[in-house]
Amino acid sequence: MNILEIIEAKKRGRELEPAQIEFAVNGFTADEFPVYQMSAFLMATWFQGMTPAETAALTGAMLHSGEELDTSVLSGPSADKHSTGGVGDKVSLLLAPLAAACGLKVPMLSGRGLGHTGGTLDKLEAIPGYNIHMDNEPFLALTEELGCAIIGQSGNIAPADGRIYALRDVSATVDCVPLITASIMSKKLAAGPETIVIDLKTGSGAFMRDLESARELATALVAVGKAYGRRMSVIFSDMGQPLGKTIGHANETLEAFDALRPGNRQTAPQDLVVLTEELVADMVRVAGVQPDRESSLAMVRAAWDSGAAFDAMLAWVSAQGGQLDPDRPDLGLEIAPIAHEVVATESGWLSSINCRQLGLSLADMGGARRKVEDPLDLTAGITFHPAIGDELKKGDPIATIHCNTPSLAMASAERLMAALTFTSERAQRSELILGRYS
Ligand code: URA
Repeated sequence: MNILEIIEAKKRGRELEPAQIEFAVNGFTADEFPVYQMSAFLMATWFQGMTPAETAALTGAMLHSGEELDTSVLSGPSADKHSTGGVGDKVSLLLAPLAAACGLKVPMLSGRGLGHTGGTLDKLEAIPGYNIHMDNEPFLALTEELGCAIIGQSGNIAPADGRIYALRDVSATVDCVPLITASIMSKKLAAGPETIVIDLKTGSGAFMRDLESARELATALVAVGKAYGRRMSVIFSDMGQPLGKTIGHANETLEAFDALRPGNRQTAPQDLVVLTEELVADMVRVAGVQPDRESSLAMVRAAWDSGAAFDAMLAWVSAQGGQLDPDRPDLGLEIAPIAHEVVATESGWLSSINCRQLGLSLADMGGARRKVEDPLDLTAGITFHPAIGDELKKGDPIATIHCNTPSLAMASAERLMAALTFTSERAQRSELILGRYS
């Protein structure tokens, strides 16, 4: 077998054998042929696409390039969620303890944020003392004992993806459904859950800008998951505005955990509540704990309202060294001290938000990374008050910017305002849940 023949075959649109795909992935990972040949292979794939069998083989080759967790040691049904990422997306912080309180085992491997989107791992690091590093055995033991645990994804999980993704990033081959599918699923499958629920976001803050391309990705993700014997489900959700009211690490962690307090399901931001409930209910239903959506939702709400999920959250965070004080309204999380208020400069209806720019306005204060190596200010944040479709009068509050340096708050406020569009006519509210696929 030789890489040139494989590139040539892909370029001509011929279906590759699994062995040829494995040869390309393994050879590249082992430095057996140069980067420019892998780059040509990726570009040929971008133009010709892949069949479901090829995508499954690519996923498998990337999955088997590293460690795989053995979730068969868990005594209950294991389940996890993957989100394609967005602004203000703190769902994992509520979802893991809620699912645990419903009897699922959730061994979650999380990543860091980059650009306008945040990462769960960074949000967890805003908790004093929280340890994101753990070996696989104690990690699974903790999941078994408490129902959930969340650590950082080590470099040993699907290492081929790390190398291929870095190359895609500099060869204009990121936006390719089979490559995205193999990248997401190789990492998700390595963590080993039997049930995988995907929150596939579309809109200005999302990776997939429209529902049509999101559906194409969903079809490929579900096909690969099923090919590897997993139970799969996808919820399409809107990322045309931030989820919940907060952006920023400590700020989002506080919003998520505070929402979990018994009694707060009704008062917390309803977009965050609804999306979290639907995703956990899907995990519960697809894992076979409950027979249908209604009974699953009822189980999730009972776990939320009784305080079982809040208690599960406290137990999990504490077991990983995190110090939260449930008696304090801020739970002991540190938010930056300067609160700069941004108000409407004219009256009108909020008709759209450029979420990417909103996410970058957090980066202006050091609260998000533009490059992987950038340090993070975990205390910086934005509390964004209105929603699309709201009518604002001149002087109404738009956002509170939490920052450590006044000049950075001003720069952030400027970008934030430029991200908003107001109209003089009533603006449509947007739907949060846009569809499902399984
Ligand atoms: N997320 C991933 O992990 N990989 C991609 O290719 C795109 C989004």
